[in-house]
Amino acid sequence: MLPELPTPLVLVDRPRLRANLRRMQAAADAHGVEVRPHIKTHKCVAVAREQLAIGARGLTCAKIGEAEAMLPSGVRALFIAHSLGDPLHAPRLAALAEQVDDLRVGLTSEAHFDVLERLAQRTGRTLRVMLAADTGLGREGARDDATAERMAARAAASRHLELRGLYTHEGFFYGVRPAERPARLAAMLDRLATLRDRIDPALALWPGCSVSARQAAELSAGRVQAVRPGAYPFGDLYLTHVTQSMQPEDQAVHVLTTVVDRPEPGLALIDAGSKTLSPDRTPEGVHALPADGRGFSVFRLNEEHGYIRGPGTDDLRIGDRILLAPAHVCPVFNLTDTVVALEDGRPVDCWRIEGRGKVQ
Ligand SMILES: Cc1ncc(COP(=O)(O)O)c(C=O)c1O
Repeated sequence: MLPELPTPLVLVDRPRLRANLRRMQAAADAHGVEVRPHIKTHKCVAVAREQLAIGARGLTCAKIGEAEAMLPSGVRALFIAHSLGDPLHAPRLAALAEQVDDLRVGLTSEAHFDVLERLAQRTGRTLRVMLAADTGLGREGARDDATAERMAARAAASRHLELRGLYTHEGFFYGVRPAERPARLAAMLDRLATLRDRIDPALALWPGCSVSARQAAELSAGRVQAVRPGAYPFGDLYLTHVTQSMQPEDQAVHVLTTVVDRPEPGLALIDAGSKTLSPDRTPEGVHALPADGRGFSVFRLNEEHGYIRGPGTDDLRIGDRILLAPAHVCPVFNLTDTVVALEDGRPVDCWRIEGRGKVQ
């Protein structure tokens, strides 16, 4: 497979990528909901351009560096969904605000309020903020409605902050069984929409997670203004096997790897380790599965080795190439400088990962 290309190599199936983007955008469009994809997954201007070209209203980022890296995409609306507060960030935030029409940042707790307000003051401008509500992940966000209302009241009284909406990252949906998802999501949206209406019905409501985004749009009934999914353009074992929110045949990212040794029966070593696949694995302990459905799996990693065991392992020969579906796509992109885009199995483009390592 692709003998002219060196391995390990991250490959993107462009037709599948485009189909995944269109599916999400169409579901959102059908319910009058915007898509503001989280670019933490791909960190790649070429993919951001594809998202914006088919209708994404703006981009979500985790860090200022990611947001800066996405500017060449032509994006006009950016949301940095993080707890910014470092005074060193003020000049970069101010510069970023100059280069887009709509820059928003997260207001993520009562403790965060003063820090963010000071940062806004240092930028010399009013910062647009989205108030985070924790809906079960237990990371950022107001833990209860009374706290959210207090934060909103303080934002309304601030000369440096302008409250524009509420957001949540409902990442705990990765652990909710498919049959339970609609009811849990409906309850979450009811709570958030009621809270929003109590604060100010004109505020936007932006949930965000690939597992729930399409259903969130379907259940919106006019209450949700945008969804912010990240991993949906590509899929990974979490989306296909763990949550079953995507089909394995829709998976658009794979890692091409080569068998480099067969040191004992029942074991094959490949040239992709944790520096390619990342240490992430599914709850069953699988780092990657072969894309063609063979029975073996990558069950252990060192930095530059992957360990393969399971049905079919003894058929593998040194030099064989294996296309792997990784457990978690986001760190895979963050570990590579470039990815190769394929159409009909042939390379058609090479994309830089401009936001790679932009964690500041
Ligand atoms: C704040 C925020 N929004 C959206 C997302 C997108 O989630 P997913 O990759 O599950 O679509 C994430 C992912 O970590 C996130 O942290």
